Amino acid sequence: MPDSPTLPDLIDMQIRTTGPMSVATYMGLCLTHPHKGYYKGADPLGAAGDFITAPEISQMFGELVGFFVVNLWQQMGQPKACTLLELGPGRGTLMADMLRVACRAEGFRDALDLRLFETNPALIAEQNARLEAYDPNWIQGFDTVGDGPLLVVANEFFDALPIRQFVRTTQGWHERVVGLLEGRRAFGLSPTPLPPSVMPDAVADAAPNAIYEAALAGTEVMSRLAHTVSTQGGAILAIDYGYAMTQTGETLQGIRRHAYADVLASPGDTDLSAHVDFNALGDAAGKAGLTVHPLVSQARFLDRLGIGDRAKALGLANPGAAADIAAARRRLTAPDQMGDLFKAFCAASPGLVPPGFSP
Ligand SMILES: C[S@@+](CC[C@H](N)C(=O)[O-])C[C@H]1O[C@@H](n2cnc3c(N)ncnc32)[C@H](O)[C@@H]1O
Repeated sequence: MPDSPTLPDLIDMQIRTTGPMSVATYMGLCLTHPHKGYYKGADPLGAAGDFITAPEISQMFGELVGFFVVNLWQQMGQPKACTLLELGPGRGTLMADMLRVACRAEGFRDALDLRLFETNPALIAEQNARLEAYDPNWIQGFDTVGDGPLLVVANEFFDALPIRQFVRTTQGWHERVVGLLEGRRAFGLSPTPLPPSVMPDAVADAAPNAIYEAALAGTEVMSRLAHTVSTQGGAILAIDYGYAMTQTGETLQGIRRHAYADVLASPGDTDLSAHVDFNALGDAAGKAGLTVHPLVSQARFLDRLGIGDRAKALGLANPGAAADIAAARRRLTAPDQMGDLFKAFCAASPGLVPPGFSP
């Protein structure tokens, strides 16, 4: 039986048949093609994979997010049923660390309705192994997410959603596309310029060659969840690398085995991501009626939640691991590591005061 075509072959065939594809279509195929997408394969996390994330660096990250969640539940009057939804839960490490802390609060375990949104079968199996005791349910979409208060957590999820790219030329804005040039994948521009009115005001005066990235998939997810939170009560916490104000600049990147990789070279074998436009997410949440709290750096968020004290306590309890704990804290909070690049975003029902977002 002939081998089934590889993802690069499928993409090239599609381009030959229907013409160049948008960057969003390319990114979507690379990451979540039903059988051959990057996020449909083996677990990509950890030292043996392509990248490492904050919850995999230290349990302190998840424990502090657990405190954040339980504090909001308490502010909401400890509702008897509360849905906790994680988007892109990876290995389930963040949620396991969160729930170890949150379930110490009386009544929280009984109120908990745990939902997970995940595309990767290998990671779903790991999430199940770690979180089985909390009776998780995996959801396929956002039409119904419980009917009571909803708390949403997403770490490094929004950066994995497809973006469209637009390039400014002297004729106007053109969508950037992926096509074939002498048989090799290459970026090009769609021939017809878009009306300037469809571009956000913030990029209206961009110089020729400027690139604007539109996170339409991320904004759609935020909008749908924000509408649900707006009617049912709750909050959305998203931690990711990104920028506070809509701007121009290319951030689409490929990562393979912990190093930068060509975005076009190995579809399906390279992680593709783009920095998150938190301003666009905030607009979507604000339009749904939520209060969007000022963006804070991951360092400030974790400092305010007490990572210093937590690191000290963990170090005293495990003297042999004290140096590793201090190193993990530095990695999560130092400005030249994850501290400034990563930001914490929170949109919440009016009246809630999310911990970590104000002094
Ligand atoms: C960069 S990993 C982050 C994992 C985890 N949150 C952590 O911090 O370790 C991205 C996560 O989002 C999931 N994911 C990516 N695209 C997705 C999509 N379109 N739908 C659902 N899950 C997705 C991945 O499988 C993975 O669990």
